[in-house]
Amino acid sequence: MVNYKEKIGQILIEADVALSYEELLDTIEVPTDKSMGDYAFPCFKLAKAMRKAPPLIAKDIAEKISSNEIFDKVESVNAYVNIFISRQKFVESIITEVNEKEDAFGRSEKGKGKTVIVEFSSPNIAKPFHIGHIRSTVIGNAIYKLYDFLGYDTIRINHLGDYGTQFGKMICAYRRWGNKEDVQREPIKTLLSYYTKFHEEADKDATLEDEARSIFTALERGEPDEVELWKWFREESLKEFNRVYKMLGIEFDSYAGESFYSDKMQRVLDELSEKGLLQESQGAQIVDLSEHSLPVAMITKSDGSTLYITRDIAAGFYRKEHYDFYKNIYVVASQQNLHFQQWFKIVELLGYDWAKDCIHVPFGLVSLEDGTMSTRQGRVVFLEDVLNRAVEQTKNIILEKGVNTDNADETSKKVGIGAVIFQELSNNRIKDYTFSWDKVLNFEGETGPYVQYTHARACSVLRNAGNSVSGLGDISKLDMKYVVGDAAFELSKLIYEMPEVIEDAADRYEPSVLTRHVVDIAQAFNSFYHEEHILVDNEDEKLAKLALVAAARIAIKNGLDLLGIESPEKM
Ligand code: ARG
Repeated sequence: MVNYKEKIGQILIEADVALSYEELLDTIEVPTDKSMGDYAFPCFKLAKAMRKAPPLIAKDIAEKISSNEIFDKVESVNAYVNIFISRQKFVESIITEVNEKEDAFGRSEKGKGKTVIVEFSSPNIAKPFHIGHIRSTVIGNAIYKLYDFLGYDTIRINHLGDYGTQFGKMICAYRRWGNKEDVQREPIKTLLSYYTKFHEEADKDATLEDEARSIFTALERGEPDEVELWKWFREESLKEFNRVYKMLGIEFDSYAGESFYSDKMQRVLDELSEKGLLQESQGAQIVDLSEHSLPVAMITKSDGSTLYITRDIAAGFYRKEHYDFYKNIYVVASQQNLHFQQWFKIVELLGYDWAKDCIHVPFGLVSLEDGTMSTRQGRVVFLEDVLNRAVEQTKNIILEKGVNTDNADETSKKVGIGAVIFQELSNNRIKDYTFSWDKVLNFEGETGPYVQYTHARACSVLRNAGNSVSGLGDISKLDMKYVVGDAAFELSKLIYEMPEVIEDAADRYEPSVLTRHVVDIAQAFNSFYHEEHILVDNEDEKLAKLALVAAARIAIKNGLDLLGIESPEKM
């Protein structure tokens, strides 16, 4: 596809404009007011070198370059050269490229040979997989997909919270009040109720905490009874998590969670003490980070047990050595900002320059309408319930409206779950938000169902024309003079920008950039659909318009794919 900015840069160089190519690229603008052209070139910077007033320079340049066939019109207005590109050539190049590349439109080789780790989701075993986890899960999955699309070798890691003192509490509670059948029937809800009970009882009886601590120590020593229970909790929890991942269409390459590093901790302690970073403080071992304006990091407790941060440092070493990452991305809530700053700093102080390649991608908090979630108090909304309810509700709507689908159950799943994912990825990730059933199940406006419906509409236009959804035959033979109207041109421009938007979303770890762009494309497609007659009698005109419909369909589908959302062909 022609890169118009670069092309205009070259044309200006050939016209002897006294700026370097790089300076030119920086200077060329895209005017917000469309009557000022598709691109504009301000001439102020040239005045000195060319010893002429900017408006005169603009006039000369406009005259020199206006005959180029990639432009429809070039005008000078004051100090600006306003460039209107040839709509027909532009539209032709986009439509051809997109239809040829299909699924690969926007794909690149930029990341070839570089490994990017995306760690996401990482729920805690035996704790609910709640609405708070959906953020890391779907933002992380989209970031993984973006990097994969850009040609990086990607590794998806689920750093399960499967270790730590809470397992002492869980085992303690299970032994006192639990029974096997309940756990098997509904593992996480049951284990959660034990955990809640533990805290209620521990408020009355302080010895419970000691009991839980000694159980955890036994687990760390590898005592068979404790290990067996822990393993069982982990397996049962994973079964539940995997049910949710399956609904979301998400997979991982590794489930190496916190327990995986339990035997890799000594090395961290040794290095820290060799390099003189470890200090003793009331029996605990700490790293003082006050010189770096960060709080003290506790590495081992006074009873010798290691902490969350110690396991993260060990995991960092392991990942560098095992995967030799180019980037190591952590999609974790902004509440853990300090935690990541601390351990990245510790790795840096140990002298490892890969510390700079570790990236924390934070996101804002989800709260409930009646307050923040609290696992301890059992105030949680389970992710699985949200997904099931969204699917159910979608099915009601589909049946009520008599929506045309081949399979109402399948479509409800794609649309209901798509709606939840889309809403998650619509806003800037750092924003806090309040979870609301009304919002998630609202299918009007700039929502997932709206975009999916637009895709299905494009499919239906293609079907009605007797074309298969993909494959219009030889695009190069089509006459694109029929798709140069404003609506067609606007739509083509948005499709043209898509590869750049994908790169931008990846660079900023911000899938919402793509989500918004996909909405823009859907809206532009709908304007085109409403303003123009597509299935006209003139065969040439019809085919050219269908080729644009097909290109828009591909762009929307690729966008939704990258967000982790399916695109039904009928709805
Ligand atoms: N399990 C943690 C939680 O639910 C998130 C883990 C984040 N990843 C990490 N490497 N620390 O809060």
